[in-house]
Amino acid sequence: MTEEKLSGDVFYPDEETVAKARVPDWHALAAEAEQDYLGFWEREAKELHWFAPWNQVLDDTQQPFYKWFTGALTNIVYNCLDRHVATARRNKLALIWEGENGDFKSLSYFALRRDVCRFANVLRSLGLVKGDRVTIYMGRIPELPIAMLACATIGAVHSVVFGGFTVEALADRIEDSQSKVLITCDGAYQRGKIVPLKQIADEALHRAGTVESVLVVKRTGEEVNMEQGRDMWFHELMNLPIASGPCKMEIVDAEDPLFMLYTSGTTGKPKAILHTHGGYMVGTYTTMKYVFDIREEDRYWCAADPGWITGHSYIVYGPLLNGTTSFLYEGAPTYPYPNRWWQMIEKYGINIFYTAPTAIRGLMRFGDAWPNRHDLSSLRLLGSVGEPINPEAWKWYHRVIGKDHCPIMDTWWQTETGMFMITPVPSLPLKPGSGTRPFPGLQMDILNEEGQPVGTNEEGYLVIKNPWPAMMRTLYKDPEKYLELYWSKYPGIYLTGDSARRDEDGYYWIIGRVDDVIKVSGYRLGTAEIESALVSHHAVAEAAAIGLPHELQGNAIHAYVILKVGEKVHDGLVEELRKHVAHEIGPIARPEKIEIVDSLPKTRSGKIMRRVLKARALGQDPGNLATLEE
Ligand code: WTA
Repeated sequence: MTEEKLSGDVFYPDEETVAKARVPDWHALAAEAEQDYLGFWEREAKELHWFAPWNQVLDDTQQPFYKWFTGALTNIVYNCLDRHVATARRNKLALIWEGENGDFKSLSYFALRRDVCRFANVLRSLGLVKGDRVTIYMGRIPELPIAMLACATIGAVHSVVFGGFTVEALADRIEDSQSKVLITCDGAYQRGKIVPLKQIADEALHRAGTVESVLVVKRTGEEVNMEQGRDMWFHELMNLPIASGPCKMEIVDAEDPLFMLYTSGTTGKPKAILHTHGGYMVGTYTTMKYVFDIREEDRYWCAADPGWITGHSYIVYGPLLNGTTSFLYEGAPTYPYPNRWWQMIEKYGINIFYTAPTAIRGLMRFGDAWPNRHDLSSLRLLGSVGEPINPEAWKWYHRVIGKDHCPIMDTWWQTETGMFMITPVPSLPLKPGSGTRPFPGLQMDILNEEGQPVGTNEEGYLVIKNPWPAMMRTLYKDPEKYLELYWSKYPGIYLTGDSARRDEDGYYWIIGRVDDVIKVSGYRLGTAEIESALVSHHAVAEAAAIGLPHELQGNAIHAYVILKVGEKVHDGLVEELRKHVAHEIGPIARPEKIEIVDSLPKTRSGKIMRRVLKARALGQDPGNLATLEE
C-alpha cells in the first residue's frame, strides 16, 4: 500500500491488518469502482446465487425510481441460508444467543433454515401470500430473525417495529401497513424487568383494526391475554403437522419488496422505507464483506436492535449472506453489572464488535476497570454507527476495548441507504470522528444552497450523486413524498438530510441532521411524532419539540407546550406529560425537559420555527427572523 501522509490526528493500520485485509489497497478498489460502478456491483452480484440472471444491472429510465438487476429472479433467503446449507457451512453456527437472564441458544445454518422453513409453512397456512405485510414486534430473541426470514421466504413483506416502541407508535405502523398478521412475544427482559410486549400489542390492536392473527412467542412465561380465534402460540404452531415438510421458497423478482421499515422524517407520521430483494442483497453482502473484512472463523456481534435498519442489514441479512456466525444478546449492556458486554465478548470469543457511540459513552463512564477484568484479545475489528462519535469516546473505544490494535469502522449510512455509505475498510488510515471516505462506487459530495460543491472544511448539505443497489425504492404508498423529500432540492441528486464537511485529505466529517429528525442515543425520532403524542394529552393544545446537545445521548428532547384554555398548571403535570409520551411512543421518546409556555414562535403561515426555539435554548443568535409572525 502506498504510505499516505494525512493531516491531523491519524491512526494508521498495523502491517498485519493490511496484509490480511480483503481490501489491502482501498485506493485501487475505489479507482476501479469509480471507472465503472455498474461493473463493480455486477461483479459483486455474481458472487451470489440467482435463479435467473438480470438483463440490466441498472434501469434508470424512470429515475429516481431506479431499478437494479432487472429481470433477475432470486430470494434473499436462498443466499442467506440454502446456499450455505448446501456446503460445509451446514453445521456452522449461524446464531448464538444469550438472554438477559442467562438463557442460551445456538442455531447452526441447518437448524436456522429448518426453523425458518417451518415458520414459513405456518405463515402460508394462515393464508399469507406474496406481497402481504406482516408486522413483527418482538424483543431481541432468535425468533425475531426467524420471523423476518420466514416472511421473506414466502415473499411476504415484513415490517419490524422496534420493541422499545409502545402503543401509538405500534398502532400507527400496523394501520399504515395494513398488516394481517402480527408476530410478537409475551414479553422481553430489559434491565432485570419484563417489558410486557403482548400487553402493549393488545392495546395497539384496539386502535388498529387490520390484524387477523397474532402469533405469540413464549419468552418470559408471564401470564398474557390470548384472544380466542385471533391469538396463537408460536411454539404450538411450530409443532403442528402443517409446519413440517419442505417449504417451497417463493422465487421473486429482484425488484420485489423485501421489507418496509418505518422511520421518522421531516413532517407528519413516520413513513415506511421500502427495500427490495435483489439490490439490497448485493449492497449489504458487499459492504459487510469488505468493511468488516469477514473471515470464515469470525464471531461477529452487532449490538444494535433488529428493529432498526442496522439490525436488518447487519444483524440479519449482511452476516447471513456472508455465512458469518452472529451473536445476539437480549438485554441491557449494564445488567446486572456494567461489564455484561465485555464478559460476553470474552465468553463467546467475539472478533468483530459493532455498536453506537451513545453506548460507548455510557460504558466509558463506569471506568476502565470493568472492561479490563476481561480478556478481550479475540477482538480484531470494532465498529460505530448511528451518530457522530466524539474523538474522546473513539479513543477510549480504541485503547480500552480495542487495545490499540483494532481499527474502528465508523460507518455512516441511513435507513434509506440500506447499506454503509461513508466508511473505512480496515486498511485505511483513520481519524477519530470521521467515517473517512465514501464506499467504492459511490459519488458523494457536499453542496451549498445553490448546489455548488463547498470548499475544503466548509459545511454544507451531504448528497449522493449516483444510485447504489441497496437504495430505498420509494416510500410505501407515498411516491410523491419520496420525490419531494429526497430528490427535489437538487434535481437528480439524493439529499441525505445531514450536514457535513470534507477535510484537506478528502475525509468526511458528519455534523448532524439539518431537518426535524432528532437522534437520541442513536435512535431516530421525529419532532412531529413527539409533538403529536403531546397533543394527544387532554390538557395540551400545541407542542413543539427540539433536540439539544446531550453529553451521553448525543441529543436530548426538549419540548414546549401550550395548554388548552382552562387547563391549569399543577404539580406533576410536566411529569405526567413526559410519561404520556413514553406510553404513546416509547421510553426513548420521553422528553428530557418540558416547558409550559404561552406562545410559540411561528411563521406567518403558522409553522413552528423550531430553529428559533433551539437558538434561544442554546443562547445563540436565532438568525433571520424575517418570516417570524409579529
Ligand atoms: C446519523 C442509522 C454520524 C445521520 C444507520 C444519518 C451518523 C442518520 C452515523 C440515519 C455515523 C448514522 N456518523 N452520523 N457513523 N451513522 N448517522 O436511518 O444523521 O436510523 O442521517 O440509520 O443517523 O439514521 P438511521
